[in-house]
Amino acid sequence: MKLLTSDMKMADVIHSNYLLMPVINRFGIHLGFGEKTVRTVCREHRIDTDFFLTIINAFSNEHYFPEKKFQTFNVLMIVDYLQRTHTYYITNQIPLIERLLTNLLRTSDVDTKKLRLIKKFFLDYKRELFTHLEREEKTTFPYVRKVYRLFYTPHPSSREKRALSKYSMHVYEEEHNDVEEKLYDLKNLLIKYVRDDSTGDSFQEVIFELFRLEKDILDHTRIENTILLPLVSKMEDALFYPAEHSKRTAGVKALGGIEVNLPLKNELRIGTTDLAQHRLTLPISKAGTRQFEGLTSRELEVLQHVASGFLNKQIADKLSISLHTVISHRKNITRKLQIKTVAGLTVYALLNGLISSNNLS
Ligand SMILES: [Fe+2]
Ligand SMILES: [Fe+2]
Repeated sequence: MKLLTSDMKMADVIHSNYLLMPVINRFGIHLGFGEKTVRTVCREHRIDTDFFLTIINAFSNEHYFPEKKFQTFNVLMIVDYLQRTHTYYITNQIPLIERLLTNLLRTSDVDTKKLRLIKKFFLDYKRELFTHLEREEKTTFPYVRKVYRLFYTPHPSSREKRALSKYSMHVYEEEHNDVEEKLYDLKNLLIKYVRDDSTGDSFQEVIFELFRLEKDILDHTRIENTILLPLVSKMEDALFYPAEHSKRTAGVKALGGIEVNLPLKNELRIGTTDLAQHRLTLPISKAGTRQFEGLTSRELEVLQHVASGFLNKQIADKLSISLHTVISHRKNITRKLQIKTVAGLTVYALLNGLISSNNLS
C-alpha cells in the first residue's frame, strides 16, 4: 500500500484520487496550489501535516487506519475536522443528492411512482442524519471541548467536574447510531428496483453521489467510534476516576497507545421507520409460492409483517413461532436482500407490491 507523503505535490495527491478533493477542501485548502508540496500547503494553512496525511491516507486506503497514531493527535483538531465534515454534508452533499433526485423526477424516463417513494425515503434519511449531526454539534462536541479543557487544567475543582456530569462518552456510545445503514439501503433499492429507461446520466449520478456520501460517512463514523470515543473516555477516566485510571495506564502514555475494547455492534439493528404512514392497509395474505430474492415463504411473511410496522414479539405471536425464530428469519432476510433497516424493508415491500400503500401519490 503506497501512502501519500508530505513531499508530494498537492496536485498529485488529487491526481492520485480525485475523491479527495472535498476532504482536502474541508481543511480550508482550495484548488490552485500550483507546484507546492503537501508540507508547504499545510504550513501555509497552519494545518498539522501529519494529521492531514493520516486523514487523506485513511480516506484513500480502505486498509489504512492507524488507530494508535490517530489517538496521538489533539482531540480539538479531530473534533474540528469532524465538524467541518458535518458542514460539508449539510451544505453540499445532501442538498446535491436532493437536487439530483428532484431533477430526476422531472424527467419522466424513470419510474416516477417508485422514484417518489425513494425520494421520500431519502428525505426521511436526511431528517434523521441532520438530527444526528445536530446532537453531536450541540451536545457531544461542546462536551468534548470542555473535557479537554478540564483535562489540561492543573487542579480542576469538584464544581467544574460536576458541571460535566450531565453527559458522558458512555451516553454518546449508547446513542451513536449507524447513519450509513439507511444510505446503503437507499442505494441498493435504487440499483435493484427502480427502472431507468433514460439515455442520460442523471440516474447514475444519483447513485454515484450516494456511494460517495456513504463512503465519506463510513470514514467519519469510524473516526468518531474508534478515535474520538476512546480518546475522550480516557480523559474522563483520568478526570473522574483518577485512581482506577492510574492503575490501568501505569507505564502507558496518558492519551496514546491505549488499547480500548469497544463492544461489538449489534449484527442487526432494528429500529422504527419514518415511513410508518405507508403501512399495510390490507390484511397480510399468505405469501404463496411467489419467489422474491430466494426468500422462503415464511421469510416473506415475516418481511411483510416487519415492513408493516410489527415488532418481533408481535410477529412471533401472529405467526405462532418463537421470538428466536423471528430474529433468525430477519437475519436471513437482511442477508438475502442486503437491506439492513426497517425503513429500507418497507420501501422494498412497497416497490415490489408485497404490501399495499394507499398513501403513495
Ligand atoms: Fe459526526
Ligand atoms: Fe456520528
